[in-house]
Amino acid sequence: MEVFKKTKLGKLELKNKIVMAPLTRSRAINNIPNEIMKTYYSQRSGAGLIITEGTSPSVNGLGYPRIPGAFTNEQINGWKSVFEGVHENNSKIFVQLMHTGRVTAKLNLPKGGEVLAPSAVFLEGEIYSDEGMKPHDMPKEMTLEDIETAQNEFITSSKKLIEAGADGIELHSANGYLLNQFLNPKTNIRTDSYGGHFKNRARFVLETAKKVCAAVGGDRVGIRFSPYSVFNDLQGDYEDLEAMFIYLATELAKLNIAYIHIVDQRVAFDAPEFATNIKKTIKDTFKGSVIVGGNVHKTTQAEALLKEGYDLVYVGRPFIANPNLVEKLKNNEDLTQLDPDKLYSPGPEGYIDYV
Ligand SMILES: Cc1cc2nc3c(=O)[nH]c(=O)nc-3n(C[C@H](O)[C@H](O)[C@H](O)COP(=O)(O)O)c2cc1C
Repeated sequence: MEVFKKTKLGKLELKNKIVMAPLTRSRAINNIPNEIMKTYYSQRSGAGLIITEGTSPSVNGLGYPRIPGAFTNEQINGWKSVFEGVHENNSKIFVQLMHTGRVTAKLNLPKGGEVLAPSAVFLEGEIYSDEGMKPHDMPKEMTLEDIETAQNEFITSSKKLIEAGADGIELHSANGYLLNQFLNPKTNIRTDSYGGHFKNRARFVLETAKKVCAAVGGDRVGIRFSPYSVFNDLQGDYEDLEAMFIYLATELAKLNIAYIHIVDQRVAFDAPEFATNIKKTIKDTFKGSVIVGGNVHKTTQAEALLKEGYDLVYVGRPFIANPNLVEKLKNNEDLTQLDPDKLYSPGPEGYIDYV
């Protein structure tokens, strides 16, 4: 089986082709990675590569309760210990840098945090908070200074994480968070050089990627996209979508980044159908490593994706209740079902007590 064979990712050697997908679990009390998080990731280090839960590079990006940050010394020290645990088991780890942008309510942000977005476009609906569901807050349209500050936050976080022992960082440009908000025409209605034409909407993402690559090396940088997604009230399809992703893949290939990671939630989350074969278009354009997945819970499904020409397969929810997922897949064992009530609850229950 190909999926259990070793492979290269940039300069790294992965022990298999299974990637643990980023999964927000809201265990980071005061936004600081802790002992139970170290245990959780160590338990799941059968994966060739772990991509951590969304982690904010900025006080402004901590949109959900108890998600970790990567900008204070305490946060970085917490991560360092997580990396050590994962490396002891010969797995590799990329930290997903997620700035939530407009997807927040002010009460989720620590003191001094601001709700920022490319444009002041309100997100309907409510968000989790420790005081129950709350409406989102209206974001402030980012000034050019805010844009530069946010990019600098991504650079600083990336540098600190790599110094602390991370194998790389993943820029979260999917699922409606800040980077994705710049790409999407519904959330980006700017009239300056960061809005309008798809090359302008891609500018924030590409500039950030370029600067982060310059700071830590392209082989330590991955990026996640979710074409056609409507999650967090994005516009799913739009006329220049394919042109924009071809442009992004072309430019990112020039930066020699480690991988592009493509979210596909059509089967599992009833997301809209893709109007084009966008995954293949991105792979053919980028040519480097591409991670795909979604609703994979059997070895045969992972093998089928590798046969289509993709390089690595991400698995999300099955890792939650099956820490030894890779072994279970190898042995074709039944998987344990997760407890939905404990997905985002604080503390160890429903987190590190699955066997
Ligand atoms: C509890 C939960 C938390 C998630 N958190 C993140 C996240 O922080 N970043 C991200 O890019 N995707 C996140 N996702 C999406 C997953 O990475 C993945 O794309 C999705 O679960 C589909 O894959 P699966 O069918 O293998 O679960 C989350 C999904 C779930 C169920």
